[in-house]
Amino acid sequence: MTALPRQDSPSALAPLHIHEVCVRDGFQIEPVFVPTERKIELVNALSRSGVAKIEVTSFSSPKAIPALADAEDVMRGIDRVEGVEYAALVPNVRGAERALACGVDELNLVMSASASHSQANLRMTREQSLAQFASIVDAAAGQAAINASLSTAFGCPFDGEVPADEVLGWVARLVDLGINRIALCDTTGMANPAQVQRLFHAVMERWPDVTFTAHFHDTRAMGLANALAALNAGITHFDASLGGLGGCPFAPGASGNVCTEDMVHMFEAMGRHTGVDLDRLLTLARQLPDIVGHPVPGQVMKAGPTTRRYPLPG
Ligand code: COA
Ligand code: ZN
Repeated sequence: MTALPRQDSPSALAPLHIHEVCVRDGFQIEPVFVPTERKIELVNALSRSGVAKIEVTSFSSPKAIPALADAEDVMRGIDRVEGVEYAALVPNVRGAERALACGVDELNLVMSASASHSQANLRMTREQSLAQFASIVDAAAGQAAINASLSTAFGCPFDGEVPADEVLGWVARLVDLGINRIALCDTTGMANPAQVQRLFHAVMERWPDVTFTAHFHDTRAMGLANALAALNAGITHFDASLGGLGGCPFAPGASGNVCTEDMVHMFEAMGRHTGVDLDRLLTLARQLPDIVGHPVPGQVMKAGPTTRRYPLPG
């Protein structure tokens, strides 16, 4: 474990970048098909909430992810706001072609750190994923930024432990392809804060020019603790999902991402600047149960922010 950054150190003062993934990671696992218009409305509202990036959809096979079969319509239907990046998840070359045709700002290339999740999610070996990434990087040059998301980087629901050295090995291969944005993803909430702090510290020390993003799921109630550990390691980019929706349909036991408004609330309460309008996020989060047809995990949307003052009874 490394020491907490001093409050006056650059990483303690750096603004935080919140990437909203609800419309992709959130909706991909919902049994109901959220109508295209509602997805577009939500993206447009999120664009005005202060988040740095929105993962709008996924250009996966519609047979694999029917909930996001309207990827083109959503991507082309949204109003883009200057200063916000619009990303899409891409599993293969075909997905990259579709995403580039829609003019996405960033292709979020997904591969797994573990062999079995790679087969279950992508029906590819990890080497096959990397081979596809190599041609995508060339095809996307000058058109879109590239982020690589490494699933199961903290543990795999099939294979169990994923050794840190193996994760570092995949990160090295991604960096060799020229990729300088990389998310380490805890697909089914197997990470713990000590592991998170160690792994992020290791990758940031070895690749100081790469922008690393932390992507946590709250499957075992360690999501916010892990986000705090990543922050303490110096991470300033975080994926999170409105209301705490989310999960990979091809990972047994998957459940929601760290909840965006809960994470923003925590960071802001600590005095860290996210640029996000928490009230706007809360208003949007409270619309989600109607959109998906069930209650959602977010906590602050129920209790209200800590600054709320209740009138005394009587
Ligand atoms: N977009 C649209 N269609 C695609 C596609 C893409 N990115 N990739 C493959 N397809 C289509 C093919 O055209 C083919 O269609 P057909 O049956 O009508 O001929 C079919 O899907 C099968 O193609 P194939 O190359 O054999 O792929 P596959 O069946 O082995 O599936 C993936 C591989 C990666 C496409 C699929 O597993 C997938 O999209 N997974 C999504 C993973 C994901 O998003 N997970 C959640 C995020 S963590
Ligand atoms: Zn995820």
